Amino acid sequence: MSRDLNRVSAKSIILSGVFALNVTVLLAALLIDSNWLWAFSFTLSLTILAIYNTQQHRHTILRNYPLLGYLRYLFESIRPEMRQYFWESDLDGKPFNRRQRSIVYQRAKNERQTVPFGMQDDPKLPGHEWVAHAMFPVQVAEKDLRVLIGNRLCRQPYKASILNIGAMSYGALSKTAISALNEGAALGGFAHNTGEGGISNYHRRGGDLIWQIGTGYFGSRDAEGKFCPELFQLRAAQQDVKMIELKLSQGAKPGHGGILPAAKNTAEIANIRNVMPGTTVYSPPAHSAFSNPVELVQFVGFLRDLSEGKPVGIKMCIGDKQDFVDICNAMVVTRIVPDFITIDGAEGGTGAAPLEFTDSIGMPLYEALAFVTQTLELFNLKKEIKIIAAGRIITAFDILKVLALGADLCYSARGMMLSMGCIQALKCDSGECPVGIATQNRSLYKGLSLTDKRARVASFHENTIHAVVEMMEACGFRSLKDVQASRFFRKVDTLRTRSFQEIYFTHIDDRLRDNWLKASMLN
Ligand SMILES: Cc1cc2nc3c(=O)[nH]c(=O)nc-3n(C[C@H](O)[C@H](O)[C@H](O)COP(=O)(O)O)c2cc1C
Repeated sequence: MSRDLNRVSAKSIILSGVFALNVTVLLAALLIDSNWLWAFSFTLSLTILAIYNTQQHRHTILRNYPLLGYLRYLFESIRPEMRQYFWESDLDGKPFNRRQRSIVYQRAKNERQTVPFGMQDDPKLPGHEWVAHAMFPVQVAEKDLRVLIGNRLCRQPYKASILNIGAMSYGALSKTAISALNEGAALGGFAHNTGEGGISNYHRRGGDLIWQIGTGYFGSRDAEGKFCPELFQLRAAQQDVKMIELKLSQGAKPGHGGILPAAKNTAEIANIRNVMPGTTVYSPPAHSAFSNPVELVQFVGFLRDLSEGKPVGIKMCIGDKQDFVDICNAMVVTRIVPDFITIDGAEGGTGAAPLEFTDSIGMPLYEALAFVTQTLELFNLKKEIKIIAAGRIITAFDILKVLALGADLCYSARGMMLSMGCIQALKCDSGECPVGIATQNRSLYKGLSLTDKRARVASFHENTIHAVVEMMEACGFRSLKDVQASRFFRKVDTLRTRSFQEIYFTHIDDRLRDNWLKASMLN
């Protein structure tokens, strides 16, 4: 033991000695400006570094290769950029491949919107999808593609575009990004979901808002973090708040809460969220205002009353099917029905989440949509509730596929980020977003031009809606109601193809049917 201690102190004495010598040589080089002294001091620095690395215990690579080992760290750090710039093919890149990202950029910039030379996908491979066109194309009369949200219990229905900006808070995104999204929504006449971080001034630049309430009740909470009806009522009455979305879960991290670290809890953020500045604030995994399906739908009714009858909906990623069936039962029993339900697929995005939650929890979007559509139909609730879909919706084909599976409209969150110039650097959780979108670092977001980006958000929306209309006309769908699952196909293995109708809508769970019957008997 004492021999070890002696060895350690001897090492530190040698290192300190070499360090002191290096500093002296450097100072001398500075004073007499001699080339050989510079070279000597450079070599000496490398020697010190090499000696240090052989003694440290954190990095084996550096202990074994004291100088060359740094190359590994250098290449690791620039791997995503190198891959994207030099090796990525048009169909590579996750979660959005280059072809998908490029079409968003082209639509956002109002540039050429065609691709050359033909299909890049291999239509023989399982997973390939397409929609059947009509021999005799038609005209879509209402090219604006809007949907009225608000059932018999709603007093201020909202006519929403079929494509809107998905939930992303101020805090996850920069003030310029949130402002550009909101001004883009105002220019294009579509809605902007605030995310669960409350309504900031950057959300109030003329665009229609869908105010999201999460478990932290930011913007409508009391000192203990519980829901505060008075504060909610005040904010819900704002003209720009068109709908309220109560968030139960999100696809990228269902059942996981969030933390606002004290350092990020500035006076401005604290004011928006109604929290104490400089303290760590937790968004718990579960709501404190309700804890079972009946209480949940009663809370939805409460929010609708407090907001003077604005449309109120619930956002969730589907997990256990029985939970959703229970909520439907509660709607039937209480006769309180939300105006919309947002279904977020497990493939949905986030600023930051644990890997297991992102990769392995929750139902993917298409399965979830088909299940929710079928269940609402079984409970005879579909006509009262609009379904909003979210999860990797980028192109007109993506929009039509979710409509075919029962959605009435959709959100795009990351598509809207791409329209503002997101390069999919995959750094949202580091605060170092190189394009100033998912960061609070002023030196990064000051480069993001508000005037340019708001126009891009609006153009992406407009050109995508135009592409939806064109596809509908080619397929003979005169209105949104004509979009049918039987017209969409997927190759399920190398030999067989199935329609979405066959894949998603033939099987009805017996358990669901039993529950539905139970619910009918309760009436
Ligand atoms: C940066 C970022 C922040 C997000 N913040 C929220 C949020 O506050 N509340 C929420 O319900 N979903 C949030 N989401 C999820 C999106 O609203 C959306 O449901 C999901 O990303 C799927 O849509 P997309 O594939 O179009 O991105 C966030 C996503 C991203 C990328």
